[in-house]
Amino acid sequence: MTIYKHPADIFSVLLAKRDAGISTGFVPTMGALHNGHLALVSKARNENQLVICSIFVNPTQFNDPKDFDKYPSTIENDIFVLENAGCDVLFMPSVADIYPEGIKPARHYNLGALENTLEGKYRPGHFQGVCQVVNRLLEIVLPHKLYLGQKDLQQCLVLKKMVALESTKTEIVICPTQREPDGLAMSSRNLRLNETDRKKAPAIHKALLSIKNTILTGDTEAFKKNAAGQLMNEGFKVDYVEIANADTLEIVKKWDGKTRLAALAAAYLDEVRLIDNIILD
Ligand code: PAJ
Repeated sequence: MTIYKHPADIFSVLLAKRDAGISTGFVPTMGALHNGHLALVSKARNENQLVICSIFVNPTQFNDPKDFDKYPSTIENDIFVLENAGCDVLFMPSVADIYPEGIKPARHYNLGALENTLEGKYRPGHFQGVCQVVNRLLEIVLPHKLYLGQKDLQQCLVLKKMVALESTKTEIVICPTQREPDGLAMSSRNLRLNETDRKKAPAIHKALLSIKNTILTGDTEAFKKNAAGQLMNEGFKVDYVEIANADTLEIVKKWDGKTRLAALAAAYLDEVRLIDNIILD
């Protein structure tokens, strides 16, 4: 695995690979890697001749500076596991490399309703920051395919929109959420849970499954309330539990029994904010 720090270096190498007709798959990450990330690398490995990963903790997508400061870093282990997972090229730029003109956004991406719903409502500016960094990374890496996790379903839809807005040719591949044996969605932030909270954390997945197992056509309110109640009883501070159209994330108040639904939740255990979602098919 070759490691690059400077955009100009990796750009020229990857441009030459592309010109030579080599298929490339790209997995952007913020490090503190776990098996959720590695599942994306493995899918990219199966589908491309060259696999590129990036590790960059992007300051512009953190609306809470404390969350940015406390974002876990396990860089030595990350390099080790990426090499073993078959990653060919690792890009580890600095903030100045990614934002040579400063971190202030140069433009606003028109994300429509996706911008202010669910995560967008609770993390203002977050998705603009995600678009800003992923667009920049795509310009540098020029991949044929971009691998994203369903764990961040709204991020997947936002980036699909961003790629369409930019007329970028990169194809987006969405990979299923990887979970711990007790159902907790793997996440870098799980490293910040204390022992007691780690035991409580799978309640998010259980609450979403309870919606999946009981949902009926008609009013969805009672199902959301019940799931949120389960989380509050466990000591979570709930941002939201919602039922939405799985393809647009428009909130569904009355289900027609046909629309493909997703149940999504975000909740805190102490200072740690966890998110999860499942498709209700
Ligand atoms: P990060 O949280 O490091 O996640 C990198 C990728 O791994 C994302 O596509 C995310 O959805 C996926 N992922 C995380 N946990 C997963 C799990 N349990 N199962 C499957 N996939 C999982 O998401 C980001 O970084 C950033 O916003 C980024 C896209 C890199 C832009 O800065």
